[in-house]
Amino acid sequence: MDKIIITGGQRLEGKIPISGSKNAALPILAATLLGNGDHHLTNVPDLKDVTTIIKLLRRLGVTVQAERNGLTVNATTLISHDAPYELVKTMRASILVLGPLLARLGEAQVSLPGGCAIGARPINLHLMGFEKMGSEIEIRNGYVHARLRGGPSKNNKRLQGARIYFDNPTVTGTENLMMAATLANGTTILENAAREPEVVDLANFLCRKGARISGAGTDVITIEGVQKLEPVDYCIMPDRIETGTYIVAGAITGGDVYVRKCIPRHLEAVIFKLKESGNRIIEDGDGLRVKGLDRPRPVDVKTLPYPGFPTDMQAQMIALMSISTGKCVITETIFESRFTHVGELRRMGADIQIQGPSAIIQGVPRLQGAPVMASDLRASACLILAGLAAEGETQVQRVYHLDRGYDRIEAKLQEVGAKIMRVKGE
Ligand code: EPZ
Repeated sequence: MDKIIITGGQRLEGKIPISGSKNAALPILAATLLGNGDHHLTNVPDLKDVTTIIKLLRRLGVTVQAERNGLTVNATTLISHDAPYELVKTMRASILVLGPLLARLGEAQVSLPGGCAIGARPINLHLMGFEKMGSEIEIRNGYVHARLRGGPSKNNKRLQGARIYFDNPTVTGTENLMMAATLANGTTILENAAREPEVVDLANFLCRKGARISGAGTDVITIEGVQKLEPVDYCIMPDRIETGTYIVAGAITGGDVYVRKCIPRHLEAVIFKLKESGNRIIEDGDGLRVKGLDRPRPVDVKTLPYPGFPTDMQAQMIALMSISTGKCVITETIFESRFTHVGELRRMGADIQIQGPSAIIQGVPRLQGAPVMASDLRASACLILAGLAAEGETQVQRVYHLDRGYDRIEAKLQEVGAKIMRVKGE
């Protein structure tokens, strides 16, 4: 297994380009299942999770051709409706093929994603929605078996439009049901829907294909089913969590970094908190500039569904606050066990106590480099950030977590002066 070695203490200075959004690319790739013809997708990030969903799509019969600046994806001929365990276990977002397969073929079987390091992550809200739209759902041998009530048949039986209320806003649940509803008979209303920018990017893609969707980005999304959808060209939006991660990299090293090809308004809560902690952030048309301090001021943070502070930036914020000039509280309200990075930060000298859903952080002047272990995608980013600020050498192990969601992170950080390198594992 590869590891990443960082020698901390370098102030980062220069420009960092942002890649396409992982969490927009995954549902958009799944949405190509909804119809025929060539889709030309650009700004697709080069990530392990994208490779995984491409493997899954190919298993279903989709052709995916890598091109100079993107992908050509064609789902005209589907040969299977089965998303197998060996693929789904490596990426729970594979559940996003369930809605499109149900809408296109009238049946699907998708391995249950199972839990992960950050929580149980059930899919009950996805399944509730599909049942309301006229599917029979059976959980058997670790798989979700879904089919139109009365069985899939060629006489054009379809999902039925329905009114669906989510007990809590679910991002992939909103995306799964929005995709399924585009080809349903009648109108579907998703209430208490997720408002994340990735949901909006998917809705924009679907509307470009001829879907009739209104309200994406609000908590009520209305989808009027249509007969069919057309293939289109589309450019994936920039990754807002990658953007936030590099803003924190500039802040935690007291650097001066320009993050380009990003959309600052997707990160208002993060930018607000970083400004509150004393960092200077200047936005312009193509990105934003962050100028950090020797040590940030402590600020309290509570993760919330968008437009609140994103849970995917919680670990990065804890890394930054671990060298703040005082005490603060960071509370995780979305996932039940998303503090696995705290134990590793403590090994680097951080003073953090966990009390229920909150991390109580007493800032220290400097972290010390240490060998640490990544446990999930954003925890690994947090440890990289801590290593950039720490005194001495930090070795981050199990960086396969990192490769799921960050496109060429070492190269982008080396470009702005970080002493960081990857050591290939056996
Ligand atoms: C998406 O996961 C993201 N993944 C996650 O990003 C992100 O952390 C999460 O949204 C929250 O913003 C993708 O978009 C591929 P949820 P998702 O359904 O959709 C509960 C990353 O680092 N819930 O919005 O799986 C759930 O347990 C990843 O890029 C149910 O109870 O998250 C959680 O507490 C990590 N039942 C809350 O809702 C359900 O049926 C929000 O989960 C579904 C969810």
